Amino acid sequence: MEFINPNKVFGLGTGSTVNYLIKEIHEAYVSKGQSITAVSTSEETTNLARRLGMNIIDLDQVDELDVVIDGADEVDPKNNLIKGGGGALLMEKIVASHSKQFIVIVDDSKIVSKLGKFPLPIEIVRFGSEKTKSSVEKLLSRLGYQKPKVYFRGAPSGKYVTDQQNYILDLHLNEIEDVRQMYQGLIGIVGVVEVGLFIDMAAKIIIGDTNGSCKVI
Ligand code: A5P
Repeated sequence: MEFINPNKVFGLGTGSTVNYLIKEIHEAYVSKGQSITAVSTSEETTNLARRLGMNIIDLDQVDELDVVIDGADEVDPKNNLIKGGGGALLMEKIVASHSKQFIVIVDDSKIVSKLGKFPLPIEIVRFGSEKTKSSVEKLLSRLGYQKPKVYFRGAPSGKYVTDQQNYILDLHLNEIEDVRQMYQGLIGIVGVVEVGLFIDMAAKIIIGDTNGSCKVI
């Protein structure tokens, strides 16, 4: 909360952590009559924020944002992240990359020595998606990952479709040896729109613990 200036437009990420933040912002400002304007990273966030009385505007209506606050699925010692567990990685990355400060809130269970235990989400276009999936599998074998499992999120019952009308592939890698090499390889595949690796983006990580206290790194 202390990183938010209620008089300036800020960015809101997506997920259960951010939902708590939205409720706090409502409590601290909106319920007391202060108007709050934010940019959102998903329909889920937009719906909750609007329901709680906030104005949500388009990213293109603002110059650079001062701050964007989001959650993450994993954080490594260099503050690199895996994001996209909630399927919003593309919009989250676009908004975060137009912010002066990208702040991430996690609990200590998400701090890892190496990224990859959490399946890495990538967003791919729907056209030719099986072909894109096999290109991803070939890349992973080339990079030395033994029998990596790559799944369409939601399959087989019904493939998950993102707010931008794309599919998500979840890459079960266990450990990502070289995050930059992985990012470069994946983003170079035609049909891949964005990768859930957020490298060198987070300015601050706020780590909460079960006692209700937190530290900022
Ligand atoms: C949404 O796509 C994700 O990047 C979330 O930010 C991430 O999964 C964290 O979500 P939770 O706060 O629900 O753990």
